[in-house]
Amino acid sequence: MEKAAENVEIAVLGGVGFNSYMEFESQPVHTPYGEVTAYLTLLKGKRIALIPRHAGKNHIPPHKINYRANIWAVHALGARSVISTNSVGSMRGHSVGSFVVLDDFIDFTRNRPSTFYDDTTVHVDVSEPYCPEISEALRNALGKQGISYTTGIYACTEGPRFETRAEIRMMSQFADVVGMTGVPEVILAKELSLCYASLAIVTNQACGMTSQKLTADEVTEVVGKAQDAIFEIIVDTIENIQETRNCRCRFAKEGACL
Ligand code: HPA
Repeated sequence: MEKAAENVEIAVLGGVGFNSYMEFESQPVHTPYGEVTAYLTLLKGKRIALIPRHAGKNHIPPHKINYRANIWAVHALGARSVISTNSVGSMRGHSVGSFVVLDDFIDFTRNRPSTFYDDTTVHVDVSEPYCPEISEALRNALGKQGISYTTGIYACTEGPRFETRAEIRMMSQFADVVGMTGVPEVILAKELSLCYASLAIVTNQACGMTSQKLTADEVTEVVGKAQDAIFEIIVDTIENIQETRNCRCRFAKEGACL
């Protein structure tokens, strides 16, 4: 494996079952919010940092992930583009194992530090939460591999429990898929003017969409099986990401600070 140089260009934030980082060189990153372990490598000639969200001594539950530290680390390493992978339950009958490129979100989290700005007032613009350029790169990568996909709205719940049937009935009025890890990550990325996009993999039908009981095991199993495919999509996406950013993400904080 080629060795990464110092300035990272693109970061990959990996979700449940994400273990494609293991063979890469680990690098501790100190942030004001705690230490993060990033795994550095070169892919398609670009310097990449992989950060597995759930990796810790034990599997870190979604409501305890140090989102601020992870996004701070991405920025500190020099990356300005982030590809996120998230597992989701479907509220639209997507088939298990299929992919959704997220295009908006609704935040049902309750108890997570969701801003870097606690001492000054910053109302960051999230009218385009997911970077259109990286999202396009993701869609092109999926297309190139002949994988059909949809785009959709993500509802983020607090967890760690799964949702009730009534909650899903309510959320399905507004969103397409549901997960626990996409927020506040996407917001924090915006606060640092990063380009951030998310590839969601459908691991199950959301609660009450079928008569079956929901288990965490099926989530890990589906992602585990799709690991290689996900990595291939990420590598192709990395190849498609342009060095110059022409989207509005880098201006997210303009006019936001009081
Ligand atoms: N709900 C919340 N988060 C999830 C789900 C779900 O059904 N599947 C994978 N992550």
